[in-house]
Parts: sequence; structure tokens; C-alpha cells
Amino acid sequence: MTHRSRTKSSAGAAPGAPLVAKTTMGASTLPDDAALLAAQLSRWFAGAARDLPWRHDRTPYRVWLSEVMLQQTRVAVVVDYFARFTARFPDVGALAAASEDDVLGLWSGLGYYSRGRNLHKAARVVVDEHGGRFPSTRDGLRALPGVGDYTSAAIASLAFGESAAVVDGNVHRVLMRLCADDTAIDTPAGQRATTARATALVTATSSPATVNEGLMELGALVCAPRAPSCGACPWRRSCRAHDAGAPEDYPVKARRPARRALRVAAVVLVDEAGHLWLERRASRGLFGGLWEPPGTVVPDDAGDAAATAATTEATTEAWRGLLVARGLTAPSTWPPAVVVQRTLTHRDLRFDVVVVPLPADAARALRPLDSGELDGRWLARGALGAVGTSTAVRAVLEAALGPPGSPRLL
Ligand code: ADE
Repeated sequence: MTHRSRTKSSAGAAPGAPLVAKTTMGASTLPDDAALLAAQLSRWFAGAARDLPWRHDRTPYRVWLSEVMLQQTRVAVVVDYFARFTARFPDVGALAAASEDDVLGLWSGLGYYSRGRNLHKAARVVVDEHGGRFPSTRDGLRALPGVGDYTSAAIASLAFGESAAVVDGNVHRVLMRLCADDTAIDTPAGQRATTARATALVTATSSPATVNEGLMELGALVCAPRAPSCGACPWRRSCRAHDAGAPEDYPVKARRPARRALRVAAVVLVDEAGHLWLERRASRGLFGGLWEPPGTVVPDDAGDAAATAATTEATTEAWRGLLVARGLTAPSTWPPAVVVQRTLTHRDLRFDVVVVPLPADAARALRPLDSGELDGRWLARGALGAVGTSTAVRAVLEAALGPPGSPRLL
């Protein structure tokens, strides 16, 4: 018998009782009656919920925007982004009417830019195909760009009252602990287990929105990843992980594959007025649609590129190629690279950056690469906020040129 089946079947069993592995998921795997648990959670949420801006006026637009942002970053950061977004785009029509650059400009810093692009696309679908009203069912919502299981369930339940289970990292943690279940949450079986339990809870209540949000809130405020405040938990008497004195043993995750190391050579071109040359990436893929200095991935000629300290010949070749491809002449010697490292979910990025000041005639002659989608512009440093740039690129520019407004910028 595996540890997993022993954990599940033994919890709550009388000493000496036969251990019977449960193989079906559903209400029966909750440690107490689903309606009772849902009622305890709802009562706790009514007293403990944070006063967050998107909880005031639960339109589908505001729920959608806040939930997409909450998938990116912490609540405290989302509060600011949400305020800026809703001030600029108060409804889905305003968002649909904006340019993609405007949307990505406001999204800058939140990361996962494909989500920002999908937000804009989905707004246009809502306006063009649904007369400006969001579909009111989970299935209808799921057909919108970028709206998957999580977001469709969140909008359907929080804005329309549907009994759809919302499953995020907080919900996994709370429910895996409640049931002392060590099924890895980043596997289909883990996903099924949490979805089945959350579904049992939201279908046992007349307010699925409160139960869904209560689960997420409990995970955020009480059932924290480290040092959970079990004394404040409405479920402490039912919680099997608490019972076993080991809440932090859950949830369990399967091992993640290693991040891929990528070295990027980049040239920061600066004209005599101190303007920077930025190009817009093609719209698909990593950082798609965002603006950045010319750059290219350096072929990995030294094993683990991110771990190699020195600038390699392959890097200087790449810088040269970037300049020559834009009709510029490469210098005979290069200054030392400014090195910036960034860790993304699936990548270890290392940027090797040089600043290349351009005389007026060279700056005038510069053209974007002739590769269809690629667009290029001279931009004042202060104007970068108006176009979408990644956090990585802002870190690169700051490392190469100093903080915005600093005298090191020519
Ligand atoms: N995390 C993501 N969405 C949330 C919500 N609606 N309430 C609390 N935490 C959340």
C-alpha cells in the first residue's frame, strides 16, 4: 500500500480498523459534511474578508480584470494596477477601443504579457460578438481568448452566481491540508481531487461565490504556505493535516523540470539627444508585442550559458550582427558588457548588454529590420511608459544607463 492511500484511508479510522483506499473523489473525501463545511467557511469569510476594490462592484468586467491580474502577482500589487486600469478603461468597451500598445503599456511590470494581449483580444470579442455583454455561463466565458478553467469559473461564480469551482494554488493548499491528501497538485490527479472537493463545497451552498472566494481568502490569510494560523481557522476541528500536526507537509508538488538557460546579447543604441532605439517583438512567444533594444539569443557555445561569467566571442559576434543588420558599423573594440540576470518560470535569462552611442547621421539612417512585423522607434527614456516593456528590459536599461533621469543617460 502506498503512503498516499494509507494517508487517505487511515484518517479518522478507528484504531485497528482495516485500511481501505478510497479511489473515487467527491464529497465523500471531505472530512465532514460539505454543507456544514461550506457554512463554516461562509461565516468566517463574512467576518474576515479583506476590503478589496474589486469586491465592491461585482461586474463581470471587474471580476475578470482582477482575477486575471491576481494570477500574475500579489494582491497588494494588483490593487494599484486595478485602479490604474479601471480609471483608464472603466468598462469592456473602453478596453476594446484601446490600442494594444496602450493596454500593454499599462500592463507593463505584471509579466506574462500574453495575458495582457489576451485581455485586449477578449474585450474585442465581447464587444464585437456579444454586444458588449460578457457571456453569463462558464462554458460561454471559456470561449473568450485567455479565459481558461480558473478565470471562467471565477467570473461565472463571482459575477453570475454559478456553482463552478474555482481552483488556484490557495484552494489546492487549503483542501489538500483539510484532507491530508499527498496527491501532487501539479498532476492531473491532483487537479481532479481538488476540483472534486471544491465542487462538492460550492454545490452544497446557496452562495457559491462566497465559498469560492472564502477558500481563496482562507488560503491567503490563514492557511498560509508557511506557519499557517491554524488557531484562526474555521475548519481546524475537521482538518486532517492539523490533526496530524503537519499542515506544512501539504500540498505536495511533483518535481519541476529545470529552467532552460538562455543568453541574450543586446545593444542599447542612444542618439545625441539621449533617445533610445527600441523595437517591437513579433506578437507571439516570450515577451511578444513588447518593446526592447535590439537583441538576439546567443548560441550556447559554453555549456550552461547563464553560469558562464565572461562575455564570449559568440556574444561579441552577436552584437556585431545586430548592428550590421541595421546598417551600422560595429566598433573595433567593445566596452565590457553590463550583465543582467533574470529568472522566469521556465527560463534563466542572462543579458549581455553594451551601450552604443550613435552620431546623428548614423541615428538618422537606422531602420528597423525588414522582417515584416518588426517595428522600431526612437523614444525618450521618459516616454517608455507609453509602450509595453517587460520588467526584464527595464532592468536591462537601468543597469546599462542608470536609473531614469540619472546623469549617466547621455
Ligand atoms: N486570489 C485570486 N482571486 C482571489 C479572490 N477573488 N479573493 C481572494 N484571493 C484571491
